[in-house]
Amino acid sequence: MNKLLEIKNLSIRFCRQHRTVQAVEKVDLDLFENEILALVGESGSGKTMTALSITKILPQSATITEGKVIFQGRDLLKTAERDLEAIRGKEISYIFQEAQASLNPVLSIGRQIQESVILHHQAKDKKQALSMSEDLLKLVRLPHPERILRSYPHQLSGGMNQRVMIALGLSSGPKLLIADEPTSSLDVTVEAQIIRMLLELKEQLRFSILFITHNLALAERFASRIAIMFKGRIVEAGLTKDIFSAPKHPHTRELINSIIRL
Ligand SMILES: Nc1ncnc2c1ncn2[C@@H]1O[C@H](COP(=O)(O)OP(=O)(O)OP(=O)(O)O)[C@@H](O)[C@H]1O
Ligand SMILES: [Mg+2]
Repeated sequence: MNKLLEIKNLSIRFCRQHRTVQAVEKVDLDLFENEILALVGESGSGKTMTALSITKILPQSATITEGKVIFQGRDLLKTAERDLEAIRGKEISYIFQEAQASLNPVLSIGRQIQESVILHHQAKDKKQALSMSEDLLKLVRLPHPERILRSYPHQLSGGMNQRVMIALGLSSGPKLLIADEPTSSLDVTVEAQIIRMLLELKEQLRFSILFITHNLALAERFASRIAIMFKGRIVEAGLTKDIFSAPKHPHTRELINSIIRL
């Protein structure tokens, strides 16, 4: 298998009122083509900051103090902003937890998807953009796409909005989809449906997923490999079955025990 993404020795620091916080410390992470890697850890362990650093969209108060982010053979941390713009949201796209907050409330779903496919040069004119938008909504299994295209985010349920977000994320034909707690705000039934759909889409369209979650049970069902993050560091990484059958780090054991107790 070919490596798609390689994070090497990445450290991120925040400076606040003369205090520094080490959010991410010496993180190494590999992601292969067409695989799902779950990055699992408790709140504040550094998962989101690791994900945001990949295309350099960290908060302004954060600094990458060392490391490399190699995507398709190229260090993104050394790539010029203009070139990064062509990768961000196109070859690497993100979906976040709060779909409704990420969508524009005053623009119809159709307008938002059409703008995205035109921006990413997937469609050459409005007519083609419209038909691509319908196809994308069908792809994420939304019924009556023509009606949904006319709707606004507040008219749809949380699960439907999350499907729209996934459609937007896929509208550029990415090689890497970074899904940061994509289903945490949804109930468990909808969560399972969306995760199953993401798995099918990955097989169909062939992209890799960096799946970020605090839920190790979900990671087990979804990912072929798992990396456990704890206090800014990756404390353990390996095949999902190995992590579960022979966890090495005490924190991993703690996480597994808490699933068993549930
Ligand atoms: N805007 C910020 N300003 C200062 N420090 C921050 C900021 N955002 C994050 N941090 C620091 O970085 C650490 C890692 O944050 P991060 O958001 O990556 O955690 P996370 O693992 O994604 O947590 P969660 O599961 O809650 O989303 C935090 O513990 C905090 O110390
Ligand atoms: Mg987070």
